[in-house]
Amino acid sequence: MKFFADTAEIDEIRELNEAGLLDGVTTNPSLIAKSGRDFMEVTREICELVDGPVSAEVVALDHETMMKEAETLRKIADNVCIKVPLTIDGLKTCRKLTDDGTMVNVTLCFSANQALLAAKAGATFVSPFVGRHDDNGFDGMELIRDIRLIYDNYLFDTEILVASVRHVTHVLESAKIGADVMTAPPKVIKALVNHTLTDKGIEGFLKDWQSTGQSIKTS
Ligand code: G3P
Repeated sequence: MKFFADTAEIDEIRELNEAGLLDGVTTNPSLIAKSGRDFMEVTREICELVDGPVSAEVVALDHETMMKEAETLRKIADNVCIKVPLTIDGLKTCRKLTDDGTMVNVTLCFSANQALLAAKAGATFVSPFVGRHDDNGFDGMELIRDIRLIYDNYLFDTEILVASVRHVTHVLESAKIGADVMTAPPKVIKALVNHTLTDKGIEGFLKDWQSTGQSIKTS
């Protein structure tokens, strides 16, 4: 499963990238607002840092303006992936862009039928939001299971990009179901490393090592 960072914070992206943990980045208008940075400038910086797809979202609601915004965004770098909302205009834009060889992430997906439409429109990625479903009392992972089943039934190429990931269990469940990608805030990705037995193990090994009085020579 590919790991994307759901953030527009450059330092966090750099840190995860240097640890070899990043396959891409997703942003959205809320994350850009949170960063306080200029949209074009921060997107360009992210694209230079990360080799994989970097999602940048259009804000227009009509197809014609979405296409114009996408035109501006795709000039930023070859790894820009245009993010469009799951609406008829968004799907129309998706089809047009993917026919031209541009990557498209269809976002704000909340049902398996919507995911079916995204695949039919040739989306590179579909982004089902699991956390927001959980917030509303529906198990978001059920949606991922349904989409996996449908995409496998028809061998759709669209990749399932699990979004609105809030905790490490979402990551584990996504991997068990066979989602292609998950995008999560850096703090969730970093939390995957935590295990109390790892900490205890390090503590024990260090204690025993110190008792030997030895050291490993470094230059
Ligand atoms: O990028 C879209 C998505 O990941 C948003 O997450 O936490 O705002 O529901 P959240």
